[in-house]
Amino acid sequence: MKSEIILGIDIGGSSIKAAPIDVSNAEIVEPFQIVNLPEKPGPDDVRDAIMKAMELFNWKDGKIGCTFPGVIQNKTILTTANVDVRWQGVNLESFIEEFSGCQCAALNDADAAGVAEMAFGVGQAYKEQGIVLLLTLGTGIGSAVFVNGNLLKNTEFGHMEVMGMDAETYASAAVKTRENLSYEAWAGRLQTILEAYEGLIYPDLIILGGGISKDIIEYEHFLHVKAKIIPAKYQNQAGLVGAALYAGEQIK
Ligand code: BGC
Repeated sequence: MKSEIILGIDIGGSSIKAAPIDVSNAEIVEPFQIVNLPEKPGPDDVRDAIMKAMELFNWKDGKIGCTFPGVIQNKTILTTANVDVRWQGVNLESFIEEFSGCQCAALNDADAAGVAEMAFGVGQAYKEQGIVLLLTLGTGIGSAVFVNGNLLKNTEFGHMEVMGMDAETYASAAVKTRENLSYEAWAGRLQTILEAYEGLIYPDLIILGGGISKDIIEYEHFLHVKAKIIPAKYQNQAGLVGAALYAGEQIK
């Protein structure tokens, strides 16, 4: 991709993260900024936070790539598992374009993380061939599936039923903290959901993302699946990097 700077924005449940990204090499051009959100943020709160981030980077009419922690189909938000229900039905790209004056492309946060890893991170060897499953382990569990480098959007493996509940209710990183689980106990749960995913799509590679992936040395020996498991390269910046790369491809 040719050199171009695009503002990447990652919308989370308690803050947005933003940074200008050079999409030719996925480099973060200026240190990323976090703008906090009030509890249960709705569209107005996020609009204010994005405007603040644009101000911080003096971003006027360049392109924006943005993530959302839910299903986005035909540009419209369909699900809001960990965020305010007021988002449902919002066309995120038009919403951002209207108040920002910038062109915008938006996608699911885990899909964005996957885009970053496949293009410039640990998924690169599987760009041409193979099945890759990326999981973001955070408040929820996000998933991205790539078949021979092509993204199958909105897979939502975090909501697959495992042990009688949503996989993310059983094994997310937030659950580990909330239930004060040891690495061993939590990894046992992770193993159960990985086995369920493996039984469905038999990935060649599983990329673990989210903050807890940097501690993988603490729990990788408890995980036994056929696929190779690698921690993500882009930790908490994966979403905004991937969003910018995606916008670079979508907006011509
Ligand atoms: C949402 C996904 C999202 C994941 C991580 C899940 O609850 O349904 O769309 O990717 O959380 O934020």
